[in-house]
Amino acid sequence: MAKRAAMVLDRKYKVAEVDKRIFGSFIEHMGRAVYDGIYQPGNPLSDEDGFRRDVMEMVKELHVPIVRYPGGNFVSSFVWEDSVGPLELRPKRLELAWQALETNEIGINEFARWARKVNTEIMMAVNLGTRGMTDACNLLEYCNFPGGTKYSDLRISHGVTDPYRIKVWCLGNEMDGAWQQGHKTMHEYGRTAEETAKLMKLIDPGIELVSCGSSHRDMPTFPEWERVTLEHTYDYVDYVSMHEYYDNEADDVADFLAKSDDMDDFICSVISVCDYVRAKKRGRKKIHLSFDEWNVWFHSKAKEREIRENTPWGVAMPVLEDIYTFEDALLVGLMLITLLKHADRVKMACLAQLVNVIAPIMTEQGGGPAWRQTIFYPFLHASRYGRGVVLQPVIETPVHDTKCHERVSDMESVAVWNEEKEELTIFAVNRNPEEDIILTADMRGMEGYWLKEHILLEHADRKVCNSAGREAVSPQVVDRSELTEGILTSMLHRLSWNVIRFGKEKAGE
Ligand code: AHR
Repeated sequence: MAKRAAMVLDRKYKVAEVDKRIFGSFIEHMGRAVYDGIYQPGNPLSDEDGFRRDVMEMVKELHVPIVRYPGGNFVSSFVWEDSVGPLELRPKRLELAWQALETNEIGINEFARWARKVNTEIMMAVNLGTRGMTDACNLLEYCNFPGGTKYSDLRISHGVTDPYRIKVWCLGNEMDGAWQQGHKTMHEYGRTAEETAKLMKLIDPGIELVSCGSSHRDMPTFPEWERVTLEHTYDYVDYVSMHEYYDNEADDVADFLAKSDDMDDFICSVISVCDYVRAKKRGRKKIHLSFDEWNVWFHSKAKEREIRENTPWGVAMPVLEDIYTFEDALLVGLMLITLLKHADRVKMACLAQLVNVIAPIMTEQGGGPAWRQTIFYPFLHASRYGRGVVLQPVIETPVHDTKCHERVSDMESVAVWNEEKEELTIFAVNRNPEEDIILTADMRGMEGYWLKEHILLEHADRKVCNSAGREAVSPQVVDRSELTEGILTSMLHRLSWNVIRFGKEKAGE
Protein backbone atom coordinates (compact mmCIF):
# COMPACT_ATOMS: atom_id res chain seq x y z
CA MET A 1 0.00 0.00 0.00
CA ALA A 2 1.38 3.36 -1.03
CA LYS A 3 1.61 6.22 1.45
CA ARG A 4 -0.15 9.50 0.72
CA ALA A 5 1.10 13.09 0.48
CA ALA A 6 -0.77 16.27 -0.38
CA MET A 7 0.05 19.76 -1.54
CA VAL A 8 -1.74 22.96 -2.47
CA LEU A 9 -0.52 25.23 -5.22
CA ASP A 10 -1.78 28.73 -5.76
CA ARG A 11 -0.33 31.48 -7.95
CA LYS A 12 -1.20 34.02 -5.24
CA TYR A 13 1.25 32.64 -2.68
CA LYS A 14 4.83 33.25 -3.75
CA VAL A 15 8.22 32.81 -2.13
CA ALA A 16 10.26 34.84 -4.62
CA GLU A 17 11.46 35.08 -8.19
CA VAL A 18 14.27 32.59 -8.86
CA ASP A 19 17.57 34.30 -9.62
CA LYS A 20 18.78 32.24 -12.58
CA ARG A 21 22.28 32.35 -11.09
CA ILE A 22 21.30 29.62 -8.62
CA PHE A 23 21.95 27.31 -11.57
CA GLY A 24 25.60 28.35 -11.66
CA SER A 25 28.58 26.02 -11.65
CA PHE A 26 32.31 26.07 -11.05
CA ILE A 27 35.54 25.41 -12.94
CA GLU A 28 38.73 25.27 -10.93
CA HIS A 29 42.26 24.89 -12.25
CA MET A 30 42.66 21.42 -10.83
CA GLY A 31 42.64 17.83 -11.98
CA ARG A 32 41.24 17.45 -15.48
CA ALA A 33 38.69 20.25 -15.22
CA VAL A 34 40.48 22.76 -17.45
CA TYR A 35 43.20 20.74 -19.20
CA ASP A 36 41.62 17.58 -20.67
CA GLY A 37 38.17 18.84 -19.65
CA ILE A 38 37.12 22.04 -21.32
CA TYR A 39 40.44 22.39 -23.21
CA GLN A 40 42.15 19.71 -25.26
CA PRO A 41 43.97 21.06 -28.30
CA GLY A 42 44.69 18.50 -30.96
CA ASN A 43 41.60 16.42 -30.21
CA PRO A 44 39.36 16.25 -33.32
CA LEU A 45 36.47 16.97 -30.92
CA SER A 46 37.97 20.38 -30.15
CA ASP A 47 37.46 23.66 -31.97
CA GLU A 48 40.02 26.12 -33.38
CA ASP A 49 40.74 27.43 -29.85
CA GLY A 50 41.28 23.94 -28.45
CA PHE A 51 37.97 23.90 -26.58
CA ARG A 52 36.08 20.62 -26.52
CA ARG A 53 32.98 21.09 -28.68
CA ASP A 54 31.10 18.16 -27.12
CA VAL A 55 31.73 19.52 -23.62
CA MET A 56 30.56 22.97 -24.67
CA GLU A 57 27.36 21.48 -26.09
CA MET A 58 26.63 19.75 -22.78
CA VAL A 59 27.37 22.90 -20.80
CA LYS A 60 24.95 24.77 -23.06
CA GLU A 61 22.38 22.02 -22.58
CA LEU A 62 22.56 22.69 -18.83
CA HIS A 63 21.99 26.45 -19.37
CA VAL A 64 24.62 27.42 -16.83
CA PRO A 65 24.30 31.20 -16.38
CA ILE A 66 27.44 31.80 -14.28
CA VAL A 67 30.68 29.88 -13.66
CA ARG A 68 32.95 30.50 -10.69
CA TYR A 69 36.64 30.65 -11.66
CA PRO A 70 39.60 29.95 -11.20
CA GLY A 71 39.11 28.35 -7.72
CA GLY A 72 38.53 27.05 -5.14
CA ASN A 73 41.65 26.35 -3.16
CA PHE A 74 43.64 27.03 -6.33
CA VAL A 75 42.87 30.75 -6.20
CA SER A 76 44.66 31.21 -2.88
CA SER A 77 48.07 31.21 -4.55
CA PHE A 78 47.00 32.23 -8.05
CA VAL A 79 49.25 34.79 -9.71
CA TRP A 80 46.89 36.09 -12.36
CA GLU A 81 49.60 37.96 -14.29
CA ASP A 82 51.20 34.58 -15.13
CA SER A 83 48.03 33.58 -16.94
CA VAL A 84 47.83 36.44 -19.44
CA GLY A 85 49.93 37.69 -22.35
CA PRO A 86 52.03 35.76 -24.85
CA LEU A 87 51.85 32.03 -24.22
CA GLU A 88 55.61 31.47 -24.58
CA LEU A 89 56.27 33.92 -21.74
CA ARG A 90 53.86 32.32 -19.28
CA PRO A 91 55.67 30.45 -16.52
CA LYS A 92 54.90 27.00 -15.24
CA ARG A 93 54.19 27.10 -11.50
CA LEU A 94 54.07 24.73 -8.59
CA GLU A 95 50.40 24.70 -7.65
CA LEU A 96 50.38 24.13 -3.91
CA ALA A 97 46.69 23.62 -3.18
CA TRP A 98 46.53 20.36 -5.13
CA GLN A 99 50.28 19.78 -5.50
CA ALA A 100 50.10 19.94 -9.26
CA LEU A 101 51.90 21.76 -12.05
CA GLU A 102 50.06 24.73 -13.54
CA THR A 103 51.13 25.42 -17.12
CA ASN A 104 49.13 28.64 -17.49
CA GLU A 105 48.15 27.67 -21.03
CA ILE A 106 44.63 28.69 -20.11
CA GLY A 107 44.28 31.97 -18.28
CA ILE A 108 41.85 34.81 -17.79
CA ASN A 109 41.44 35.68 -21.48
CA GLU A 110 41.12 32.14 -22.76
CA PHE A 111 38.60 31.32 -20.06
CA ALA A 112 36.59 34.44 -20.90
CA ARG A 113 36.55 33.30 -24.53
CA TRP A 114 35.26 29.87 -23.49
CA ALA A 115 32.64 31.49 -21.23
CA ARG A 116 31.38 33.56 -24.15
CA LYS A 117 31.13 30.45 -26.32
CA VAL A 118 28.94 28.66 -23.77
CA ASN A 119 26.82 31.77 -23.02
CA THR A 120 27.83 32.09 -19.42
CA GLU A 121 29.12 34.83 -17.15
CA ILE A 122 32.21 34.56 -14.98
CA MET A 123 32.11 34.77 -11.20
CA MET A 124 35.74 35.73 -10.56
CA ALA A 125 37.55 34.87 -7.35
CA VAL A 126 40.54 36.91 -6.17
CA ASN A 127 43.53 35.65 -4.21
CA LEU A 128 43.25 36.83 -0.61
CA GLY A 129 45.48 33.97 0.58
CA THR A 130 49.05 34.55 -0.51
CA ARG A 131 48.25 37.94 -2.06
CA GLY A 132 45.92 40.76 -1.15
CA MET A 133 44.10 43.96 -1.97
CA THR A 134 46.57 45.43 -4.48
CA ASP A 135 46.53 42.36 -6.68
CA ALA A 136 42.77 42.07 -6.40
CA CYS A 137 42.41 45.70 -7.53
CA ASN A 138 44.88 45.18 -10.37
CA LEU A 139 42.96 42.16 -11.62
CA LEU A 140 39.69 44.09 -11.45
CA GLU A 141 41.29 46.97 -13.37
CA TYR A 142 42.62 44.50 -15.97
CA CYS A 143 39.19 42.92 -16.45
CA ASN A 144 36.74 45.78 -16.09
CA PHE A 145 38.37 49.19 -16.65
CA PRO A 146 37.86 50.50 -20.19
CA GLY A 147 41.43 51.74 -20.88
CA GLY A 148 44.10 54.38 -20.35
CA THR A 149 45.57 52.84 -17.17
CA LYS A 150 48.37 50.37 -16.56
CA TYR A 151 46.32 47.19 -16.26
CA SER A 152 43.48 48.08 -18.61
CA ASP A 153 46.08 48.93 -21.26
CA LEU A 154 47.83 45.66 -20.52
CA ARG A 155 44.58 43.86 -21.34
CA ILE A 156 44.23 45.87 -24.54
CA SER A 157 47.83 44.99 -25.46
CA HIS A 158 46.73 41.34 -25.06
CA GLY A 159 44.16 41.88 -27.79
CA VAL A 160 41.07 42.44 -25.63
CA THR A 161 39.78 45.92 -26.40
CA ASP A 162 36.46 45.82 -24.61
CA PRO A 163 36.45 45.34 -20.85
CA TYR A 164 34.80 42.16 -19.63
CA ARG A 165 32.61 43.98 -17.08
CA ILE A 166 32.63 40.94 -14.79
CA LYS A 167 29.89 41.60 -12.27
CA VAL A 168 30.42 39.11 -9.44
CA TRP A 169 33.70 38.84 -7.50
CA CYS A 170 34.50 36.46 -4.64
CA LEU A 171 36.78 37.84 -1.92
CA GLY A 172 38.97 34.75 -1.62
CA ASN A 173 38.00 31.16 -0.97
CA GLU A 174 37.35 29.19 2.24
CA MET A 175 39.62 31.48 4.24
CA ASP A 176 38.45 29.86 7.51
CA GLY A 177 40.07 26.53 6.61
CA ALA A 178 43.50 25.53 7.91
CA TRP A 179 44.13 23.83 4.53
CA GLN A 180 43.79 27.16 2.74
CA GLN A 181 47.00 28.80 1.56
CA GLY A 182 47.15 32.01 3.54
CA HIS A 183 44.42 30.84 5.95
CA LYS A 184 43.22 33.67 8.20
CA THR A 185 41.47 34.13 11.50
CA MET A 186 38.01 35.67 11.28
CA HIS A 187 39.36 39.03 12.41
CA GLU A 188 42.23 38.98 9.90
CA TYR A 189 39.93 37.97 7.08
CA GLY A 190 37.22 40.44 8.08
CA ARG A 191 39.63 43.36 7.91
CA THR A 192 41.33 42.22 4.70
CA ALA A 193 38.02 41.57 2.96
CA GLU A 194 36.59 44.89 4.14
CA GLU A 195 39.52 46.92 2.82
CA THR A 196 39.72 44.95 -0.42
CA ALA A 197 35.99 45.34 -1.00
CA LYS A 198 36.15 49.06 -0.31
CA LEU A 199 38.87 49.58 -2.92
CA MET A 200 37.30 47.27 -5.48
CA LYS A 201 34.01 49.16 -5.27
CA LEU A 202 35.90 52.43 -5.83
CA ILE A 203 37.30 51.02 -9.06
CA ASP A 204 33.97 49.62 -10.24
CA PRO A 205 30.88 50.51 -8.17
CA GLY A 206 28.76 48.25 -10.36
CA ILE A 207 30.30 45.00 -9.15
CA GLU A 208 28.79 42.63 -6.61
CA LEU A 209 31.01 41.13 -3.91
CA VAL A 210 30.87 37.82 -2.08
CA SER A 211 32.38 37.62 1.41
CA CYS A 212 33.73 34.18 2.41
CA GLY A 213 31.49 32.30 4.79
CA SER A 214 32.36 29.04 6.51
CA SER A 215 33.72 26.15 4.47
CA HIS A 216 30.96 23.95 5.87
CA ARG A 217 28.51 23.80 8.75
CA ASP A 218 30.77 21.66 10.95
CA MET A 219 33.64 24.12 10.98
CA PRO A 220 34.45 24.92 14.63
CA THR A 221 34.28 28.64 13.88
CA PHE A 222 30.79 28.48 12.34
CA PRO A 223 28.69 30.68 12.78
CA GLU A 224 30.95 33.08 14.66
CA TRP A 225 32.99 33.42 11.47
CA GLU A 226 29.97 34.79 9.58
CA ARG A 227 29.10 37.23 12.39
CA VAL A 228 32.58 38.66 12.83
CA THR A 229 33.50 38.86 9.15
CA LEU A 230 30.15 40.36 8.13
CA GLU A 231 30.42 42.97 10.86
CA HIS A 232 33.54 44.10 8.99
CA THR A 233 32.32 43.71 5.42
CA TYR A 234 28.60 44.52 5.74
CA ASP A 235 28.75 47.95 4.07
CA TYR A 236 30.63 46.70 1.02
CA VAL A 237 29.49 43.19 0.23
CA ASP A 238 26.30 41.81 -1.25
CA TYR A 239 26.55 38.09 -0.51
CA VAL A 240 28.09 35.67 1.93
CA SER A 241 29.32 32.38 0.51
CA MET A 242 28.28 28.91 1.65
CA HIS A 243 29.93 25.59 0.78
CA GLU A 244 28.81 22.06 1.55
CA TYR A 245 29.51 18.60 0.17
CA TYR A 246 27.75 15.45 1.36
CA ASP A 247 28.85 11.82 1.37
CA ASN A 248 27.39 8.39 1.85
CA GLU A 249 30.47 6.82 3.45
CA ALA A 250 28.15 4.99 5.86
CA ASP A 251 26.20 3.50 2.96
CA ASP A 252 22.87 4.35 4.57
CA VAL A 253 20.60 5.60 1.83
CA ALA A 254 17.86 6.96 4.11
CA ASP A 255 20.31 8.95 6.15
CA PHE A 256 22.16 10.12 3.06
CA LEU A 257 19.00 11.45 1.44
CA ALA A 258 18.09 13.26 4.66
CA LYS A 259 21.20 15.40 4.30
CA SER A 260 19.36 18.03 2.26
CA ASP A 261 17.65 18.84 5.59
CA ASP A 262 21.11 19.69 6.96
CA MET A 263 21.59 21.99 3.98
CA ASP A 264 18.25 23.63 4.75
CA ASP A 265 19.24 24.10 8.37
CA PHE A 266 22.61 25.54 7.34
CA ILE A 267 20.89 28.06 5.05
CA CYS A 268 18.45 29.09 7.80
CA SER A 269 21.33 29.60 10.25
CA VAL A 270 23.34 31.76 7.85
CA ILE A 271 20.26 33.87 7.08
CA SER A 272 19.83 34.41 10.84
CA VAL A 273 23.42 35.59 11.22
CA CYS A 274 23.12 37.94 8.22
CA ASP A 275 19.97 39.42 9.70
CA TYR A 276 21.55 39.71 13.14
CA VAL A 277 24.42 41.75 11.67
CA ARG A 278 21.94 43.84 9.70
CA ALA A 279 19.98 44.61 12.86
CA LYS A 280 23.15 45.41 14.79
CA LYS A 281 24.30 47.76 12.04
CA ARG A 282 20.85 49.34 11.82
CA GLY A 283 21.29 48.46 8.17
CA ARG A 284 18.74 48.48 5.39
CA LYS A 285 20.50 46.16 2.99
CA LYS A 286 19.87 42.41 3.20
CA ILE A 287 22.91 40.22 2.67
CA HIS A 288 22.02 37.43 0.27
CA LEU A 289 23.54 33.97 0.04
CA SER A 290 25.84 32.61 -2.62
CA PHE A 291 25.93 28.83 -2.15
CA ASP A 292 28.89 28.71 -4.47
CA GLU A 293 30.09 25.16 -3.83
CA TRP A 294 27.66 22.29 -3.33
CA ASN A 295 27.51 18.67 -4.43
CA VAL A 296 28.07 15.07 -3.40
CA TRP A 297 31.79 14.36 -2.98
CA PHE A 298 33.42 11.27 -1.48
CA HIS A 299 33.87 8.49 -4.04
CA SER A 300 37.28 9.72 -5.19
CA LYS A 301 38.90 10.74 -1.89
CA ALA A 302 41.20 7.70 -1.43
CA LYS A 303 42.41 7.91 -5.02
CA GLU A 304 43.18 11.61 -4.63
CA ARG A 305 45.36 10.91 -1.58
CA GLU A 306 47.15 8.15 -3.50
CA ILE A 307 47.83 10.38 -6.52
CA ARG A 308 49.09 13.23 -4.37
CA GLU A 309 51.42 10.92 -2.44
CA ASN A 310 52.74 8.93 -5.38
CA THR A 311 52.72 11.38 -8.28
CA PRO A 312 52.76 14.98 -7.07
CA TRP A 313 53.34 17.87 -9.48
CA GLY A 314 51.60 16.24 -12.41
CA VAL A 315 49.64 18.14 -15.04
CA ALA A 316 45.91 17.37 -15.23
CA MET A 317 45.98 14.36 -12.93
CA PRO A 318 42.65 12.48 -12.59
CA VAL A 319 41.75 13.70 -9.10
CA LEU A 320 38.29 14.16 -7.60
CA GLU A 321 36.72 12.13 -10.41
CA ASP A 322 33.69 10.94 -8.50
CA ILE A 323 31.57 8.60 -10.57
CA TYR A 324 28.06 9.25 -9.38
CA THR A 325 25.39 6.71 -8.52
CA PHE A 326 21.65 6.98 -8.96
CA GLU A 327 21.21 7.75 -5.24
CA ASP A 328 23.70 10.64 -5.61
CA ALA A 329 21.43 12.06 -8.33
CA LEU A 330 18.53 11.92 -5.87
CA LEU A 331 20.46 13.93 -3.28
CA VAL A 332 21.47 16.46 -5.93
CA GLY A 333 17.77 16.79 -6.81
CA LEU A 334 16.91 17.26 -3.13
CA MET A 335 19.61 19.91 -2.76
CA LEU A 336 18.21 21.75 -5.79
CA ILE A 337 14.73 21.69 -4.21
CA THR A 338 16.26 23.10 -1.01
CA LEU A 339 17.97 25.93 -2.90
CA LEU A 340 14.75 26.76 -4.75
CA LYS A 341 12.74 26.86 -1.51
CA HIS A 342 15.10 29.60 -0.34
CA ALA A 343 14.87 31.64 -3.53
CA ASP A 344 14.17 34.76 -1.46
CA ARG A 345 17.69 34.67 0.03
CA VAL A 346 19.81 32.29 -2.03
CA LYS A 347 20.54 34.30 -5.16
CA MET A 348 23.53 32.40 -6.48
CA ALA A 349 24.70 28.81 -6.22
CA CYS A 350 27.36 26.78 -8.01
CA LEU A 351 27.21 23.05 -8.53
CA ALA A 352 30.83 22.14 -7.84
CA GLN A 353 32.16 21.45 -10.28
CA LEU A 354 31.27 21.29 -13.99
CA VAL A 355 33.67 19.04 -15.91
CA ASN A 356 35.61 15.95 -14.73
CA VAL A 357 36.23 17.19 -11.16
CA ILE A 358 33.18 16.16 -9.04
CA ALA A 359 31.18 16.99 -12.11
CA PRO A 360 28.03 16.27 -14.12
CA ILE A 361 30.07 16.17 -17.36
CA MET A 362 32.96 13.75 -17.90
CA THR A 363 35.54 13.24 -20.61
CA GLU A 364 37.56 10.06 -20.93
CA GLN A 365 41.28 10.17 -20.33
CA GLY A 366 42.97 9.94 -23.70
CA GLY A 367 40.29 11.91 -25.49
CA GLY A 368 37.07 9.92 -26.01
CA PRO A 369 33.72 11.68 -26.24
CA ALA A 370 32.11 13.44 -23.28
CA TRP A 371 29.33 11.76 -21.31
CA ARG A 372 26.65 12.68 -18.77
CA GLN A 373 26.80 11.52 -15.15
CA THR A 374 23.61 10.62 -13.24
CA ILE A 375 23.64 14.02 -11.49
CA PHE A 376 23.49 15.78 -14.87
CA TYR A 377 19.76 15.16 -15.10
CA PRO A 378 18.27 16.72 -11.96
CA PHE A 379 20.45 19.75 -12.60
CA LEU A 380 19.30 19.89 -16.22
CA HIS A 381 15.64 19.72 -15.22
CA ALA A 382 15.94 22.32 -12.47
CA SER A 383 17.92 24.70 -14.66
CA ARG A 384 15.57 24.28 -17.60
CA TYR A 385 12.20 24.28 -15.81
CA GLY A 386 13.04 25.95 -12.48
CA ARG A 387 13.04 29.55 -13.68
CA GLY A 388 10.16 31.74 -12.63
CA VAL A 389 8.54 32.28 -9.26
CA VAL A 390 8.75 29.73 -6.47
CA LEU A 391 5.29 29.09 -5.06
CA GLN A 392 4.85 28.75 -1.32
CA PRO A 393 5.10 25.02 -0.68
CA VAL A 394 2.07 23.92 1.34
CA ILE A 395 2.78 20.25 1.82
CA GLU A 396 1.54 17.43 3.97
CA THR A 397 3.79 14.39 3.83
CA PRO A 398 4.42 11.30 5.91
CA VAL A 399 7.76 11.24 7.70
CA HIS A 400 10.35 8.68 8.74
CA ASP A 401 13.36 8.65 11.09
CA THR A 402 16.88 7.85 9.96
CA LYS A 403 20.04 7.11 11.92
CA CYS A 404 20.97 10.77 12.39
CA HIS A 405 17.78 12.61 11.40
CA GLU A 406 14.32 12.75 12.93
CA ARG A 407 11.01 13.26 11.18
CA VAL A 408 12.43 13.30 7.68
CA SER A 409 9.73 14.06 5.12
CA ASP A 410 9.10 11.16 2.75
CA MET A 411 8.40 13.59 -0.06
CA GLU A 412 10.33 16.78 -0.72
CA SER A 413 8.86 19.10 -3.30
CA VAL A 414 8.77 22.61 -4.69
CA ALA A 415 6.87 24.24 -7.56
CA VAL A 416 8.06 26.98 -9.89
CA TRP A 417 5.66 29.05 -11.97
CA ASN A 418 6.94 30.78 -15.08
CA GLU A 419 4.20 33.26 -15.83
CA GLU A 420 5.85 34.58 -18.97
CA LYS A 421 6.22 31.15 -20.54
CA GLU A 422 2.90 30.02 -19.03
CA GLU A 423 4.53 26.99 -17.46
CA LEU A 424 4.37 25.42 -14.05
CA THR A 425 6.68 22.66 -12.80
CA ILE A 426 6.51 20.53 -9.69
CA PHE A 427 9.82 18.96 -8.64
CA ALA A 428 9.32 16.09 -6.22
CA VAL A 429 11.56 13.43 -4.70
CA ASN A 430 10.25 10.41 -2.87
CA ARG A 431 13.18 9.75 -0.56
CA ASN A 432 11.56 6.93 1.35
CA PRO A 433 13.67 3.87 0.41
CA GLU A 434 10.82 1.43 0.99
CA GLU A 435 7.48 2.91 0.05
CA ASP A 436 5.73 4.54 -2.88
CA ILE A 437 3.70 7.70 -2.40
CA ILE A 438 0.51 8.87 -4.03
CA LEU A 439 0.66 12.65 -4.25
CA THR A 440 -2.55 14.65 -4.46
CA ALA A 441 -2.07 18.30 -5.38
CA ASP A 442 -4.87 20.80 -5.22
CA MET A 443 -4.19 23.01 -8.22
CA ARG A 444 -7.45 24.89 -8.38
CA GLY A 445 -5.42 28.05 -7.74
CA MET A 446 -3.65 27.40 -11.06
CA GLU A 447 -6.72 27.42 -13.27
CA GLY A 448 -6.07 27.16 -16.99
CA TYR A 449 -3.01 24.93 -16.64
CA TRP A 450 -2.96 21.45 -18.18
CA LEU A 451 -0.71 18.52 -17.49
CA LYS A 452 2.08 18.39 -20.06
CA GLU A 453 4.31 15.55 -18.93
CA HIS A 454 5.69 13.65 -15.98
CA ILE A 455 9.45 13.14 -16.31
CA LEU A 456 11.00 10.49 -14.12
CA LEU A 457 14.48 9.47 -13.04
CA GLU A 458 14.55 6.12 -11.25
CA HIS A 459 16.49 2.87 -11.20
CA ALA A 460 16.07 -0.43 -9.40
CA ASP A 461 19.76 -0.37 -8.44
CA ARG A 462 20.55 2.71 -6.36
CA LYS A 463 24.30 2.16 -6.85
CA VAL A 464 24.15 2.14 -10.65
CA CYS A 465 26.37 4.68 -12.47
CA ASN A 466 26.57 6.01 -15.98
CA SER A 467 29.78 5.64 -17.97
CA ALA A 468 31.17 6.48 -21.40
CA GLY A 469 28.78 4.91 -23.90
CA ARG A 470 26.35 3.57 -21.27
CA GLU A 471 23.61 5.77 -19.81
CA ALA A 472 22.06 3.48 -17.24
CA VAL A 473 20.32 6.44 -15.61
CA SER A 474 18.48 8.81 -17.91
CA PRO A 475 15.06 10.46 -17.74
CA GLN A 476 11.91 8.98 -19.18
CA VAL A 477 8.45 10.42 -19.71
CA VAL A 478 5.93 8.27 -17.83
CA ASP A 479 2.19 8.00 -17.47
CA ARG A 480 1.96 8.35 -13.70
CA SER A 481 0.09 11.65 -13.31
CA GLU A 482 -3.46 12.69 -13.94
CA LEU A 483 -5.16 16.08 -13.60
CA THR A 484 -8.91 16.06 -13.10
CA GLU A 485 -10.90 19.18 -12.24
CA GLY A 486 -7.90 20.93 -10.72
CA ILE A 487 -6.72 17.95 -8.65
CA LEU A 488 -3.46 16.28 -9.64
CA THR A 489 -2.82 12.68 -8.68
CA SER A 490 0.73 11.40 -9.18
CA MET A 491 2.40 8.15 -8.32
CA LEU A 492 5.87 8.82 -6.89
CA HIS A 493 7.77 5.57 -6.69
CA ARG A 494 10.15 5.01 -3.79
CA LEU A 495 13.53 6.60 -4.52
CA SER A 496 12.53 8.67 -7.53
CA TRP A 497 13.06 12.16 -8.97
CA ASN A 498 9.88 13.50 -10.57
CA VAL A 499 9.36 16.56 -12.73
CA ILE A 500 5.67 17.19 -13.38
CA ARG A 501 5.12 19.90 -15.96
CA PHE A 502 2.06 21.93 -16.79
CA GLY A 503 1.28 24.52 -19.45
CA LYS A 504 -1.61 26.54 -20.75
CA GLU A 505 -1.59 24.49 -23.91
CA LYS A 506 -3.18 21.07 -23.71
CA ALA A 507 -0.67 18.28 -24.40
CA GLY A 508 -0.60 17.56 -28.13
CA GLU A 509 -1.95 20.98 -29.14
O1 AHR B 1 35.70 21.88 -5.20
C1 AHR B 1 36.84 21.29 -4.65
C2 AHR B 1 37.39 22.08 -3.46
O2 AHR B 1 36.46 22.02 -2.42
C3 AHR B 1 37.60 23.56 -3.66
O3 AHR B 1 38.82 23.84 -4.24
C4 AHR B 1 37.52 24.11 -2.28
O4 AHR B 1 37.07 25.43 -2.25
C5 AHR B 1 36.61 23.14 -1.55
O5 AHR B 1 37.15 22.73 -0.36
